Amino acid sequence: MSARVIAVSNRKGGTAKTTTAVNLSAALGARGRRVLLVDLDTQGHAGLGFGVRAAPGAVTVHDLFRGGGQDLAEGIRTSAYAQVDVLPADRTFAGVAERVEPLDLARALDPLQAAYDAVVIDTAPTADALLVSALAAAHHVIVPTLLHHLALDGVGQFARSFFRVAADLNPHLAGMSLLPVQVDLRMTMQREALEQLAARFGRQRLLPGIRPDIALAEAFGCGRPVRYFKSRSRSVEDFEFLCDRMLEVVLN
Ligand SMILES: Nc1ncnc2c1ncn2[C@@H]1O[C@H](COP(=O)(O)OP(=O)(O)OP(=O)(O)O)[C@@H](O)[C@H]1O
Ligand SMILES: [Mg+2]
Repeated sequence: MSARVIAVSNRKGGTAKTTTAVNLSAALGARGRRVLLVDLDTQGHAGLGFGVRAAPGAVTVHDLFRGGGQDLAEGIRTSAYAQVDVLPADRTFAGVAERVEPLDLARALDPLQAAYDAVVIDTAPTADALLVSALAAAHHVIVPTLLHHLALDGVGQFARSFFRVAADLNPHLAGMSLLPVQVDLRMTMQREALEQLAARFGRQRLLPGIRPDIALAEAFGCGRPVRYFKSRSRSVEDFEFLCDRMLEVVLN
């Protein structure tokens, strides 16, 4: 069995991509799945969410794009939490996009996949060559989005990149799911945005959402997934539902 690769992406900033990548990885790990979290965003936040950063001089995922045929296995760090390993980012990387070959990441992850059930890739809030390489390596993409008037626009723009990569580069990129975050359906604007997303992309693409929960930010500040910080938080419950859905749809 080879790992299923899930990218967490949206070209918009601050939509809980990293929060989702970290807490979904932790939930999958707690269910006994072996997880590799790949931190493709040079902000390095996904690694920090597990209390992991690259040691000076160590291999990072970004070394791939410096033109060496890097063995990424050397850069993998075990986290302190069940079943989750992390491939950290190089926070100093400011690579020139042209040097990123779209299939480099997919090829480099290939030999690692036998050791894991899931590879989760956190991506930066951009529509650049690194995003294309994440989509080119993925089987499924989760698009976390806030429910406001521009949600439809942002997800629509992202969807164009998704369909282009699925058509041109990666026949295995089978699914795109939308994850509503900071959900409070007492707000008319949020209910409207949800309906617009369902109408445009199909209700079956909508994942169970994540409610607002300050524990997520506090846990991140302590370098831990929320389930290992405040296990009775409502966000822990919400990420369990997301994990269930991913086990059903992608990791079955
Ligand atoms: N459900 C939530 N409730 C409350 N705060 C949240 C929730 N989800 C995320 N946050 C907070 O929102 C902020 C942005 O989240 P996060 O860093 O995950 O977004 P991002 O999409 O990865 O951002 P970037 O585009 O910069 O990579 C963080 O401070 C995070 O703790
Ligand atoms: Mg992020």
